Amino acid sequence: MAHRKQRNTYSRDPAARASTRDGVGWHAGRWGLVLAGLAVAARTALAAAPAADPKPLDGAALFAKYCALCHGAKGQGYAADHANALANQQFLTSATDPFLGWAIAYGRPGTPMAAFGKDRGGPLDHGQVSKLIGFIRSWQQSPPIPVPEGLIRGEPARGEKIYAAQCSGCHGPRGKGKTAPSLNNPVLLATAPDGYLRRAIAEGRTGTPMPAFARKLSAEALNDVTAYLRSLYRKLEWKTVPETPPPITQIIINPKGGPPRFPPLREGLYVPVDKVRAELVRGARLVLLDARPTSDWMLAHIPGALPVPYYDVDAMVAQLPRDDTFIVAYCSCPHAASGQVVTELRSRGFKNTAVLDEGIFVWMERGYPVTTGTGETAPAPTPAPAPDR
Ligand code: HEC
Ligand code: HEC
Repeated sequence: MAHRKQRNTYSRDPAARASTRDGVGWHAGRWGLVLAGLAVAARTALAAAPAADPKPLDGAALFAKYCALCHGAKGQGYAADHANALANQQFLTSATDPFLGWAIAYGRPGTPMAAFGKDRGGPLDHGQVSKLIGFIRSWQQSPPIPVPEGLIRGEPARGEKIYAAQCSGCHGPRGKGKTAPSLNNPVLLATAPDGYLRRAIAEGRTGTPMPAFARKLSAEALNDVTAYLRSLYRKLEWKTVPETPPPITQIIINPKGGPPRFPPLREGLYVPVDKVRAELVRGARLVLLDARPTSDWMLAHIPGALPVPYYDVDAMVAQLPRDDTFIVAYCSCPHAASGQVVTELRSRGFKNTAVLDEGIFVWMERGYPVTTGTGETAPAPTPAPAPDR
């Protein structure tokens, strides 16, 4: 991984940090990065002009609209889904602008962190991603600490043992992610240099569950775990996706069917995946809303589900039936985005609404069908890409 230039738009001037400066250029000159396939799909959209929005949102407003749901309004993390603390100082001083830009635009496939970039079917153009980077930088209190470049040599087999004993309880087996972020994620490993990973392990992330291992593990052991994480990298196949979903032709699934026989909703809100699946098979009349960013809908959604992302509920409201037809929203979080959509619908007077309790990843794990944005009944992408499968 050749990260030649460390770029971090942190400014020593607190006033400049507080104003939401553009983190311009996170993608500029970055095409030399060894991104093993990531770059190809992105090239076209990088040239795209900024959105012709009359009143463009600044970085703070973009963050509140798209990110606060999971990462918290102040980047404190853990608002939903174990989303990490973006305002953490060890994170901010070691993450470069391109690292942040790739994470936002390409997401962490297979986790609740969707791709927000337009070229992946998400809502944000490059100018907006830059504004978000600038806003996230405003939380950074000290200058960047460039991470050492180049490969860290270690013994992955020894690292694997340490990982199983010290890390898998939070990060899951083989870095699949659990209560802590995934560490086998292809976008993470394609954009984080070894030095970044090693520093995170050695110093931890103060104020989050991530402990510092510098005293607990020898320098050699730290190298071994880093080498082990690096060995988890697997190339991800990126399919080209259209920037916008195809026109919606049908709102209601089984329009001639009767109402679904749902049990009383848990907490007046949640319905289990098995129940929704059974009612769909039985031919019950339903509307399904996919509350995730449209990029996720493009990759895989429950057949018949409409893309109604949590940040854009109004776009679809006029088309939803106001009779007794049941509306069920889902996401991968498993509740945060779908919960927000249902709350908004209920505030607009929609009564028969529910949230899919376990979310779409459990739906996929059960082997229930999903389809892509272009209508292929492709096999479900494995939630949390697992190199051992
Ligand atoms: C639905 C919940 C959710 C939303 C909304 C969301 N994120 Fe995330 N984000 C996550 C999770 C969960 C992770 C960790 C994913 C993993 O396991 O690898 C993450 C990871 C990240 C990372 C990588 C952090 C690291 O240490 O590697 C960045 C940067 C990030 N998110 C920024 C954003 C921004 C900016 C937005 C808004 C445009 C956003 N996220 C919206 C859940 C979310
Ligand atoms: C008690 C739970 C816990 C344990 C044990 C743990 N971690 Fe973490 N780790 C976390 C959390 C939570 C985060 C995200 C922190 C944040 O919000 O920034 C994290 C972050 C990281 C990151 C940064 C990821 C990124 O995308 O920026 C790396 C690398 C990492 N951990 C590696 C390890 C390794 C290797 C071990 C074992 C030696 C380990 N962790 C043990 C909870 C844990």
